[in-house]
Amino acid sequence: MANRSPAETDPTASAVASPGAARAPMTPRPFRVLARRQETADTWTLTLEPADGAPAPRFEPGQFNMLYAFGVGEAPISISGDPDADGPLEHTVRAVGPVSTAICRAEPGTELGLRGPFGSSWPLAAAAGRHVVIVAGGLGLAPVRPALLAALARRESLAGLVLLCGGRSPGELLYADQMVGWGQDPRLELGVTVDAAERGWSGHVGVVTTLIGAAPFDPARAVAFVVGPEVMMRFTAQALLDRGIDPADIHLSLERNMKCAVTQCGRCQFGPTFACREGPVMSLAAIGRFFGVREL
Ligand SMILES: Cc1cc2nc3c(=O)[nH]c(=O)nc-3n(C[C@H](O)[C@H](O)[C@H](O)COP(=O)(O)OP(=O)(O)OC[C@H]3O[C@@H](n4cnc5c(N)ncnc54)[C@H](O)[C@@H]3O)c2cc1C
Ligand code: FES
Repeated sequence: MANRSPAETDPTASAVASPGAARAPMTPRPFRVLARRQETADTWTLTLEPADGAPAPRFEPGQFNMLYAFGVGEAPISISGDPDADGPLEHTVRAVGPVSTAICRAEPGTELGLRGPFGSSWPLAAAAGRHVVIVAGGLGLAPVRPALLAALARRESLAGLVLLCGGRSPGELLYADQMVGWGQDPRLELGVTVDAAERGWSGHVGVVTTLIGAAPFDPARAVAFVVGPEVMMRFTAQALLDRGIDPADIHLSLERNMKCAVTQCGRCQFGPTFACREGPVMSLAAIGRFFGVREL
């Protein structure tokens, strides 16, 4: 049977996840680039403020916006800043193709379009009294950074907070300055590893899953947030299962291809669900059967 768009199968499917998005889900709002910081050779963090005078939308950790480079196109990009801060929005973008490259090249003062926020969020409220274990691979630290910042702000309500980060090389680790502060923060257990060391690197070498066995958390009272390349998430999910975390407590961010972000185009369909509506954040228990199935 041919895939049908959600609008054909679900008359309520045009409902969207947030009030900001509900106002005009397909119409981008103009935002101005306030600042642009280079993170790695191919990745930049952009700070965006509304150019129409209205406040920036509030967002939940894990949600994404559709960023529009005028004349080039639109791409889903996670919000990477502090969800508790009023004001400009941060997005961390890797230049991989035409749209992401145009966004990365946008100098301060440039206008971009923005729709959103869209999608589900990391279940921080359910983490009260538990150990939060965040495992990020490469650029995956960007979508989970808002959850980390929110967890740090609520640290007293958590039993523990662990951040395990992996990168291909030291030069590919995001937020280098902030990472130094996180390493000294007594509220956080930080583990950092790289696949391949460079001169001057004295830290851990190996894939991020090698940090999971000795990480300080109680699996019976832990909730895990995992984001990175799909192969990394598969191995990480298995390592967390091996430690004893329940599949319902392992949450992943699925970056399926998206176009409309409002359940109209069917582009992000996997199995019976749509990543732009039920995702990007979903539990392993919810997606298990389809996790790892390649996009058609
Ligand atoms: C919910 C969500 C959140 C995202 N958050 C971020 C983010 O915070 N920062 C960021 O840099 N990117 C993020 N992405 C990926 C980003 O949307 C794509 O890199 C972008 O759409 C590529 O568009 P392009 O025109 O630049 O390149 P294209 O020409 O469309 O693609 C260039 C290459 O990247 C691959 N690619 C495209 N989209 C994806 C994807 N979703 N996953 C893996 N490979 C892809 C293509 O197969 C191709 O090989 C996110 C994607 C989703 C769905
Ligand atoms: S249905 Fe269009 S991106 Fe999800």
